[in-house]
Amino acid sequence: MKEKVSSKSRRSGIKIMSGLIVLIGSLAYAMVFAVVNGTLGFLSAMSITALGAAGIAKALGAGVALSYGWIIGLAIACGVIRGLLRFAEQYLNHFIAFRLLAVLRNKIFIALRRLCPAKLESKQKGSIIAMITADIETLEVFYAHTVSPVCIAVAVSLTVLAVLTFALSPYFALVALLGYLTVGVIMPLISSSKMKTDGVNYRREFSQFNAFYMDSIKGIKDIVLHNAGEKRMNEVGQRSGNLLVHAKRLKNKTAYSQVVTEVCVSFFTVIAAAVGVILVATGKTDIGKAIVGVVIVTGSFGPVIALSALPGNLTQTFAGGDRVLDLIAEKPAVLPVENKKDFDFESVEVKDLCFGYDDTARVLQDVCLHAEKGEIVGITGDSGSGKSTLLKLLLRFWQKESGEIMYGDSDIDEINTSSLLDNVTMVSQTTYLFDDTIEENLRIAKRDATREEIDEACKRASVYEFIQSLPEGYGQKTGSLGENFSAGEKQRIGLARAFLRGSKLILLDEPTSNVDSINEGIILKSLKDGKKDAGIILVSHRESTMAIADRVYRIENGKISEVTNGRQK
Ligand SMILES: Nc1ncnc2c1ncn2[C@@H]1O[C@H](COP(=O)(O)OP(=O)(O)OP(=O)(O)O)[C@@H](O)[C@H]1O
Ligand SMILES: [Mg+2]
Repeated sequence: MKEKVSSKSRRSGIKIMSGLIVLIGSLAYAMVFAVVNGTLGFLSAMSITALGAAGIAKALGAGVALSYGWIIGLAIACGVIRGLLRFAEQYLNHFIAFRLLAVLRNKIFIALRRLCPAKLESKQKGSIIAMITADIETLEVFYAHTVSPVCIAVAVSLTVLAVLTFALSPYFALVALLGYLTVGVIMPLISSSKMKTDGVNYRREFSQFNAFYMDSIKGIKDIVLHNAGEKRMNEVGQRSGNLLVHAKRLKNKTAYSQVVTEVCVSFFTVIAAAVGVILVATGKTDIGKAIVGVVIVTGSFGPVIALSALPGNLTQTFAGGDRVLDLIAEKPAVLPVENKKDFDFESVEVKDLCFGYDDTARVLQDVCLHAEKGEIVGITGDSGSGKSTLLKLLLRFWQKESGEIMYGDSDIDEINTSSLLDNVTMVSQTTYLFDDTIEENLRIAKRDATREEIDEACKRASVYEFIQSLPEGYGQKTGSLGENFSAGEKQRIGLARAFLRGSKLILLDEPTSNVDSINEGIILKSLKDGKKDAGIILVSHRESTMAIADRVYRIENGKISEVTNGRQK
């Protein structure tokens, strides 16, 4: 399933752009406002030089209708307006940028929440973190520095063309139009096709380098342990050099395209001046209009020049946008069940259950199992035989392929997800502790638990005395990744969480794998004592743990069979 996502063919640029524009939703009004603002800002800035040109033309004796006073007054007014608009533009750009980041992060979180937990197992956590940080940052560039420049360029260019055509001379408009098309359309298309592979290559090298670097930092203990530091460092150096080569290539091409753009703008400025001279010489226009026309054409390239700088960013933005759109569009492995049945756990009957993570290999084949309140059911089997998978299916983390999982008289697919999670809980093989106090980490199972309930759960998990021995007791911080605790301590806190939750069916995946025999004894005794209130399904390799089970199943090659005293029944 994971391959499906990564090998999906890339969307076209247009598709990515339209997909991204739809994403901004309620912020569209602010974007429109920013574009109007930017357009008026450019036009008022251009008006200042145009008015200056009109003043010079008047001084040269051309017939300019405005008095010097008006020319100076209007130029000052345009300057003030330009200043105000500039302020509004900066304000809006930042408003949009930060709001967009928030909106996009929220959308990605909702998508992750929907895909959780099944699809997240198959996606590398690193790539998700990359998506939340780097990809969203590049998308911000797309909205704030790509969409609005394109819109502003179109709006300013059309306005200037209209002014040139109707107030001065259509010949100027023609020169300007050719200039805009060359600088704003043809050049970006050529350079984007030339830089596409370089952009993609650079991005790929960049993310590979980051991944390798992060991997090295995470695994630094093992690197030191195996004296592999020098080799690793050389590889970091080599990859960094590689990245530099790609970065240089991209920068060179960007610089080259900027130079060509500047040359084009100069070329069209010269053409505009030549057209002005011809128009005056042939009596088609007066010197005043010619000067103003040439100045307007020359000064109007700003917005389209901004477009020619886009392609370098755009390929990276599209790659990031593609990944974000992929994630948002990805179908979850299971859809939550709502508005169907609620239930109270009494027993579970699994019949002919088949499941595989992908089409290639079945993990479970015709599995049958029964468990009910008041009993402990054990499951053993070799590593990789499908024990954890079976537990996940009992919680509907994945969709079963065929067969039945009946809770009472309802199949699992007919039971509301919230009711299922209220009745069934699981302690998985690895307990995740949030970077918070122990108490908060326990309360995640039951927000309003009393202190007595928390104490009781911790005692049953044999972790009460350990917590009491900590300087801050329940208020002790766990540290990021729960690094302040040993594997066994974490495991017991995870167990306490499950006991606190008070579910009627508790699924325990190797609950004592990291625990010494004294603590194991305490935990197993409390499981035994507590079984009258709940059903327990216990996965373990350990014979000492399996000894408390009322019945034991063994999974082998995807098939399950009941065993007694280690012998097949
Ligand atoms: N998310 C997943 N996507 C694809 N394959 C998976 C996934 N999770 C597990 N598998 C594969 O399914 C098989 C069963 O895995 P499972 O975790 O259920 O084994 P297990 O019996 O719990 O093993 P262990 O005793 O080592 O915990 C393994 O071959 C494993 O590689
Ligand atoms: Mg397992």
